[in-house]
Amino acid sequence: WIWPKYFVTIIYLNFCHIFNNFSRRLKYLQINLFGINIGIMRQISKLEKNSTYLKIFWDDGEESKFNFMWLRDNCPTAHDKDSNHRMFNILNVSKNINPKKYNINENGKLEIEWSEGNHTSYYDAKWLRDNCYTINNKKKYVSPYELWDSSLQKNIQNISIEYDEIMSSDEGLIKWLELLHHKGIAIVKKSPTEKESGFKILNRISHTRETFFKTPFEVINIPKPNNSAYTAHALRNHMDLPWFENPPGYQFLHCLINSAKGGDSSAVDAFAVAEYLKKNDKETFDTLLKVPLKFRDKDYTQKSHRGFYAPALSLTKDGDYHDVRFSVATMDTLDCHPDLMEKVYKSHHIFGNLLHDDRFQIKFRLQPGDIYSFNNRRVLHGRTEFDPNSGHRHLQGYYIDRDEIIGRLEYLKKNKL
Ligand code: OGA
Ligand code: ZN
Repeated sequence: WIWPKYFVTIIYLNFCHIFNNFSRRLKYLQINLFGINIGIMRQISKLEKNSTYLKIFWDDGEESKFNFMWLRDNCPTAHDKDSNHRMFNILNVSKNINPKKYNINENGKLEIEWSEGNHTSYYDAKWLRDNCYTINNKKKYVSPYELWDSSLQKNIQNISIEYDEIMSSDEGLIKWLELLHHKGIAIVKKSPTEKESGFKILNRISHTRETFFKTPFEVINIPKPNNSAYTAHALRNHMDLPWFENPPGYQFLHCLINSAKGGDSSAVDAFAVAEYLKKNDKETFDTLLKVPLKFRDKDYTQKSHRGFYAPALSLTKDGDYHDVRFSVATMDTLDCHPDLMEKVYKSHHIFGNLLHDDRFQIKFRLQPGDIYSFNNRRVLHGRTEFDPNSGHRHLQGYYIDRDEIIGRLEYLKKNKL
């Protein structure tokens, strides 16, 4: 009994010894062990007080500036330990707050006695290093988006995932969410085809986003349709609900029956088209970014007038793509400045044609049990017309907000580490 434990302890101690020596000799060590990043804790070698910030010199030569108000606001005691919300209120101290005394204490922590409020703060070196905005701002931004064009069609199995895999394991769910986040598209195969059965798999992610179309919305052709999706007509590549201030982040079209002739699906990565324009037609790209378009809902069943102005493309704080607004069917009568109208229409024309160009779009046919899932503000979707007399076609649609997809993915990945 005792021997195996003894050996394990010896091996463990030896490993620690080797590891410690090894890390001491290195200035900076970042190992990737089984996909987990292990960073060696950096130490503070010197402090310097300036007029508005404390400068930290690290033992690997890096330097960080920490603003006084930032430091006081982020004192480790500032937050409630349960809600994690900040209880400390920076507005209750003056803008001139500064460290009266500061040093690195025997535990390696930065200790600051503040000029006001009779308060001392203790900061972990690791926390300071991880949250150092001087170093973090130097890092090159890496986009989570893997842009794609029509070549994805040959490898469509790369964006397919089976229902059972998602339902039976968090790994399966992560795989689906990663496809949605990185590629903006995934097709779930072999789902049940009972009505409303989509809820079960979607609730593995989170709650759905409600709209006046109800959840799920029924994509069938009906008399007196209030939306062109509820006809047998072709739908050009579009996003849903561009007239909302915050259109649904993701859409899920669950195919229950698809026996009618026609009704084939299409998808295009509008971010990839935008990237093409950025490189090849900067003037069009800039117009798409700058000039707000007008979208409006003219739904005769509604006792509400919904409308919104937004440019065709918007970017994030890092200059990455944030969202696209494109829908030929629901763009309203534009009312931008007369000097801009020609430019705006030309840009819309160029962008729209590329969004339907076979260099960029993929085409496929949904099978009963498929859930065509996509980022509604990145990947535009469409269908060819179908013949309702040749068979039946029934999809059920659901929306989920982007926060739910990204938030769930982050949570699951952290728990897996
Ligand atoms: C929709 C839609 C596509 C289809 O309902 O928003 O675009 O294949 N449907 O019917
Ligand atoms: Zn649609």
